[in-house]
Amino acid sequence: MTRLRGSPLAVAAGALLLLLVLGSPRCAAASGGGSAVVLPVNKDDATQQYVTVFRQRTPQVPVKAVLDLAGAMLWVDCDAGYVSSSYAGVPCGSKPCRLLKNAGCAVSCLDAPSSGCLNGTCAEFPKNTVTSVSTAGNVLTDVLSLPTTFRPAPGPLATAPAFLFTCGRTFLTEGLAAGATGMVSLSRARFALPTQLAGTFRLPRKFALCLPAASAAGFVVFGDAPYTFQPGVDLSKFLTYTPLLVNPVSTAPYGRKDKSTKYFIGETTIQLNGRVWREKPTDYFVGLTGIRVNGRAVPLNATLLAIDRKGVGGTRLSTVSPYTVLERSIHQAVTGAFAKEMGEIPRAPAVEPFELCYDGSKVVGGARAVLPAIELQLQSTAAPWVVLGASSMVAAGKGGALCLGVVDGGTEPQTSVVIGGRMMEETLLEFDLEGSRLGFSSYLPSRHTTCDNFRLG
Ligand SMILES: *[C@@H]1O[C@H](CO)[C@@H](O)[C@H](O)[C@H]1NC(C)=O
Ligand SMILES: *[C@@H]1O[C@H](CO)[C@@H](O)[C@H](O)[C@H]1NC(C)=O
Repeated sequence: MTRLRGSPLAVAAGALLLLLVLGSPRCAAASGGGSAVVLPVNKDDATQQYVTVFRQRTPQVPVKAVLDLAGAMLWVDCDAGYVSSSYAGVPCGSKPCRLLKNAGCAVSCLDAPSSGCLNGTCAEFPKNTVTSVSTAGNVLTDVLSLPTTFRPAPGPLATAPAFLFTCGRTFLTEGLAAGATGMVSLSRARFALPTQLAGTFRLPRKFALCLPAASAAGFVVFGDAPYTFQPGVDLSKFLTYTPLLVNPVSTAPYGRKDKSTKYFIGETTIQLNGRVWREKPTDYFVGLTGIRVNGRAVPLNATLLAIDRKGVGGTRLSTVSPYTVLERSIHQAVTGAFAKEMGEIPRAPAVEPFELCYDGSKVVGGARAVLPAIELQLQSTAAPWVVLGASSMVAAGKGGALCLGVVDGGTEPQTSVVIGGRMMEETLLEFDLEGSRLGFSSYLPSRHTTCDNFRLG
């Protein structure tokens, strides 16, 4: 059986050496002494998911995966087409395996040895967070590469020789964007990309996310990068910061507390020993304190905006939720306030899943500029997160309707406000895990730029 190659320290030292070799003077100068790695982001129109591509394995191949602000770590399909000479199972009882609170041990697999079939290998439970389907799979390491510069084309690669991930299976990729064979986790979890890349490449534990609108390009940049956009816009000093909150209770528990279980998956037996099997909370929450529409406060129930002792309530950011989902009373208050500000503009019939729709031809014709601004007031900030025009409205249905892109989340959702992908598009969001804060920019088109214009290196 293959063994984990080297201690994490040795791996990190190796990676650092590699970076030193790879890091051109241009790269060091561009980041003012710091360094960064970057992933491209595109929006898949059919599923509204945000997808990225990195390189993995030996020989290296491009792997397309769906981005997720939640999740435990990277998972990829190891059933179909996983060919590599450099993968290794993470042994049961090794330090990384002990750090994975939900891990078990794949004790015996009766098939021929492969990436998905190794004895004595740490096993985890990769989850498709779009469909909520989960399975068990081996925890492996393999070579993973991603660019250090971004424009005009992805530049020199930084290579992690032993990047830890979980093996998913082909059925787990159902519901993902066409061609995607896994999911990239950007959560605060120990082995999700931000923390694992920071450890491997000695980067600060932070990343910036710029989700593109359809048919444009965006990015995630990990580490210290100047936020420079063409034409000559440097947003680094123009972010507003609010604390990132940790929900005391995971919003996605597996809900099993078996003392000792044998779990069968295909031909593999996985032994779980006396573990309280519950996901650690790794999602990103912020403290939403109020919402204004065109400067007017929307009356909201403050209890719903707070996170209670059971982890219910509060405001979470989600890239797998295409639209913002609001608890029913909040939804009613916001759509009511928005409708009032729209005045005489003719309404159109509702288009699922939206409620408040307008005749698009009447809105576009000159009135577009006067679409009400939605302001999200966040804890400890002087300025609100302003959601303008295109990131609040959605062209829906075949009748040319333009709808307010918020969805009714019912009366008793786990989380009262889930800020979805659409609302985050074309806004730079910095997730600073060391400072435990979220930085947000203004809507980039209002600064005459877009995510597509980001330059690095
Ligand atoms: C795992 O161990 C079992 C029995 O101990 C053996 O039959 C099987 O071939 C082994 N599988 C692999 C992939 O080494
Ligand atoms: C506010 O929400 C809480 C939690 O759902 C509920 O118990 C309470 O009755 C609500 N208050 C008002 C005034 O509606």
